[in-house]
Amino acid sequence: MVERKNAWALVTGASGGIGKDIAILMAQRGYDLMLVARSEDKLNALAAELASAHGIRTRVIAHDLSVPGSVAQLMNLVGTDIAQVEVLVNTAGFGLAGRFAETDSRRLSEMVQLNVTTLMELTRAVLPSLQARGTGYIMNVASAVAFQPCPHFAAYGATKAFVLSFSQALSVELAGTGVSVTAVCPGSTATDFHQVSGSDRSFVAKLMDSSEAVAREGVNAMFARRSSVVTGIMNKPLPLVNRLVPRMWMANAVGLLFRQTR
Ligand SMILES: NC(=O)c1ccc[n+]([C@@H]2O[C@H](COP(=O)([O-])OP(=O)(O)OC[C@H]3O[C@@H](n4cnc5c(N)ncnc54)[C@H](OP(=O)(O)O)[C@@H]3O)[C@@H](O)[C@H]2O)c1
Repeated sequence: MVERKNAWALVTGASGGIGKDIAILMAQRGYDLMLVARSEDKLNALAAELASAHGIRTRVIAHDLSVPGSVAQLMNLVGTDIAQVEVLVNTAGFGLAGRFAETDSRRLSEMVQLNVTTLMELTRAVLPSLQARGTGYIMNVASAVAFQPCPHFAAYGATKAFVLSFSQALSVELAGTGVSVTAVCPGSTATDFHQVSGSDRSFVAKLMDSSEAVAREGVNAMFARRSSVVTGIMNKPLPLVNRLVPRMWMANAVGLLFRQTR
């Protein structure tokens, strides 16, 4: 059993996929865990498993983060434990694939609320206590699609461009404070994501990294206080390619990858 840190890691999107694997890695490092998502049964099962395996404290907060005002409610639920939060991991998110004009308007707003507004508000809400502690880590899960326009995933790609830009800017602002921000940019990853997003019939859904590998690379980058990391060997050249190739060429190429194939 590892030594307990006596500090909380608050992980959103911890009920499955990348967020669940990040939570497991944080437990292995001795962090107590606040697990947030909507699926209470999955969170309870994970909390029980990790508490018994690692002797850590766990809190399950079943909460819909795609609703305006949800971050303020979440902070009320977290209560005074906020002072002991050392790590914030913003993983909760989803995509909406297909032609933009045919995408459900209500779901689009929920996606922007979750991927952008909630991530930004939660970062703003947790940051003062991290700064007061003099040390802390924030991980924001962006995506490899953040680097270029993404036809057939247009609004989703734009939410992740926000996450990358916001996180990198913040990491500069916070330099020297003991608090770091890391944007993690996974490529296509084997989780429920493509099914939820309706992108499971696209070419990229066939090229998937494991969720465990993405989580491990992300957590290592966060504790190394890197401002960003692109996970997966195939995706590493993306930032450089995007600097060399005209933006609309990239948009056209990526559009082919995200088009539904059957
Ligand atoms: N998989 C990929 O190919 C890929 C690639 C690049 C980036 N990403 C990003 O990685 C992050 C994690 O996705 P994933 O691949 O692990 O997908 P996933 O398996 O579908 O997990 C998404 C997580 O977000 C939670 N979530 C969704 N809607 C929520 C809501 N309204 N309120 C609270 N929690 C909510 C889900 O829990 P509940 O359903 O229980 O609420 C789940 O825990 C996302 O930000 C995604 O955009 C994924």
